[in-house]
Amino acid sequence: MVNVLFVCLGNICRSPSAEAVFRALVEEQELSSKIHTDSAGTGAWHMGNPPDARAQQIGKTRGVFMSDLKARQVTPQDFEKFDYILAMDNSNFANLEQMKPSNYKGQLKMMLDYSDENTGEVPDPYYGDLSDYEHVFDLLGPAAAGLLADILTQNDVK
Ligand code: 4NP
Repeated sequence: MVNVLFVCLGNICRSPSAEAVFRALVEEQELSSKIHTDSAGTGAWHMGNPPDARAQQIGKTRGVFMSDLKARQVTPQDFEKFDYILAMDNSNFANLEQMKPSNYKGQLKMMLDYSDENTGEVPDPYYGDLSDYEHVFDLLGPAAAGLLADILTQNDVK
């Protein structure tokens, strides 16, 4: 089993969207029994909440569903469980680097490191409008595809 965790600040906009986009690819390729997904936030404000309605709305227009997801905060145990931990922006990445045990064997990376089309950060859409959520999904699609390709290359999941 390969365990993949997506991380942003609140775990209600970018990381559940990333999880849902990636999960849809995993399901399409019938790999759900081999690749486990989750998402979490570095902050705790939204714990237990479903994804932001705007993320769900834009997701739905692209066939990506996330109403089952609930926000939680990143924990130290996540570094024991997850083989891949993907940060959405530089601040999330810095927070995760601080939490990361020195013996962590997995991959702590920026989400867009796996994209052929974009680099850098997935910008926080929370104080923006629907077009900012569209942009988040535009960035996440190629990155999720690149991430899955990397996982299939690096791990014996077939
Ligand atoms: P996310 O967006 O990190 O993509 O889930 C945010 C959600 C909530 C807040 C900030 C960012 N907030 O400050 O409450």
